[in-house]
Amino acid sequence: MNKSLKIILLGIGFFSMTNLVQAQTAWVAPADADQLTNPFANNEDAIKKGKKLYAQNCTICHGDKGKGDGMAGAALKPKAADFTTASIKAESDGAMFWKMSEGRSPMAAYKGMLSEEQRWQLVSYIRTLQK
Ligand code: HEC
Repeated sequence: MNKSLKIILLGIGFFSMTNLVQAQTAWVAPADADQLTNPFANNEDAIKKGKKLYAQNCTICHGDKGKGDGMAGAALKPKAADFTTASIKAESDGAMFWKMSEGRSPMAAYKGMLSEEQRWQLVSYIRTLQK
C-alpha cells in the first residue's frame, strides 16, 4: 500500500473514532440551569401530579421506578437514563428541568409538550424515585 493511502485511511479511522466518542459524551446541562429553582420542591400536590405525568409520558423508557428499564428504554442508544445513579442524583433540579425541556435524541424535548409547571412537577416526582 502506498504511504499517502495509508495516511488517508488512518485519517478516516481517526475521524470515525472521534465521532463515536462524541456520540457517547456525557450530557451536561449549561451551568446557568443550576440557578433555576424548583417552585414545587417537596410539594406533595406537585409530586402527585408529577407521578401521573411520569406514568403517561416517561415510564415507557425510564421505567416505573426510574431505573431506565422501561419497555422502550433498554433498547435505545444511549439507554434511557437511570435516575437512581449517583451522578444523576447529584444533579440540581434546574439541570434536570433543563434536560427534560431541551431533550436529546432519542428523547424528545418536552418544553413544547408539557408546561413549565408540569416539568417542575416531574422533577419533584423523580426526586422521590431517587430516595
Ligand atoms: C423515547 C424514550 C424516552 C422517553 C419517553 C423519555 N426519556 Fe428521558 N431520556 C431518554 C434517554 C435515552 C436519555 C439519555 C439521553 C442521553 O444521555 O443522551 C434520557 C435522559 C433523561 C434525563 C437526563 C438524565 C440526566 O440527568 O442526565 C431526564 C431528566 C429525563 N430523561 C427525563 C424524562 C422525563 C421527565 C420524561 C417524560 C416526560 C422522559 N425523560 C421521557 C429517553 C426517554
